[in-house]
Amino acid sequence: MKKIGLLGCGAIGTQIALAIDSGKIPGILTHVYDNSKDAALKLVSKLNTKPEIVENSHLLSSHPVHIIVEAASQDAVKDVALSVLQNKRDLMIMSVGALLDESIYDILSDACNDFKKTIYLPSGAIAGLDGIKSIKDELESLSITTTKHPRSLKGAKFFENSEIDLDTINFTTTIFEGTAKEVVSLFPANINVAALLSLSGIGSEKTSVKIVADPNTDKNTHHIEAAGKFGKMTFTIENFPDVNNPKTSRLAILSAIEALRKYCSDDIQIGT
Ligand SMILES: NC(=O)c1ccc[n+]([C@@H]2O[C@H](COP(=O)([O-])OP(=O)(O)OC[C@H]3O[C@@H](n4cnc5c(N)ncnc54)[C@H](O)[C@@H]3O)[C@@H](O)[C@H]2O)c1
Repeated sequence: MKKIGLLGCGAIGTQIALAIDSGKIPGILTHVYDNSKDAALKLVSKLNTKPEIVENSHLLSSHPVHIIVEAASQDAVKDVALSVLQNKRDLMIMSVGALLDESIYDILSDACNDFKKTIYLPSGAIAGLDGIKSIKDELESLSITTTKHPRSLKGAKFFENSEIDLDTINFTTTIFEGTAKEVVSLFPANINVAALLSLSGIGSEKTSVKIVADPNTDKNTHHIEAAGKFGKMTFTIENFPDVNNPKTSRLAILSAIEALRKYCSDDIQIGT
């Protein structure tokens, strides 16, 4: 059985831990860490098989685990990802936006090669990455339009230098159009899907991103279009938010559970 260390005991981390505890993921959760000791204690209290709570994030990969699952933050990725690989553990990353920093991406990619370990990036809150990966050499254009309720966009850095007042939007309004690279700093909450798409396809400078506010929606919707010599693909994903963290889509949690189940299973693997 694969031994798993978990970094981050919030909405995603808790559901992953419960899926391991129930046997849905055929592995053993041996160690956990969260900056918030309360979050770690709360998670452990829900489990029948209790993992050890370690004292800092670097200690996770010093134990004999096979994989560290990150479900914490971009800072956590920047802090521990390299040492996880150096300790010869695989790594699953949910805070994918951290990899849009090219120097971090290159360092981690080289480390995977040097230490013969793998970084797994689940499809998260979107779908269709299997197709995008397959046709990436023939891609001519790639775009994602994300539509959310205005309150879900609140707090984004973009609004510090914008005259748009989210509280007064009463019809569907385009807020931003640019590239995935630009979204990194302006809309951190949208980075993960834009990052996943651009890393699967033609890179963050060539991936177009549009962000739309819709005061009448209760979903986070992502519409992806890809075109090139292969033909054309379109995907629309209408996500309901998770009940414990409305910023996180239910699909992102289920995608993480499925990716880890696949990692822990000797089974027929479906999909590219
Ligand atoms: N790939 C995707 O499609 C996708 C979708 C949703 C969320 N995410 C990302 O996954 C991550 C987790 O999401 P969530 O909904 O579980 O968030 P959450 O806020 O519910 O939980 C995050 C937990 O991590 C802890 N944490 C934060 N920074 C930490 C650090 N540096 N070291 C240790 N612990 C730390 C927090 O205390 C919290 O308990 C976030 O970065 C989020 O942006 C990715």
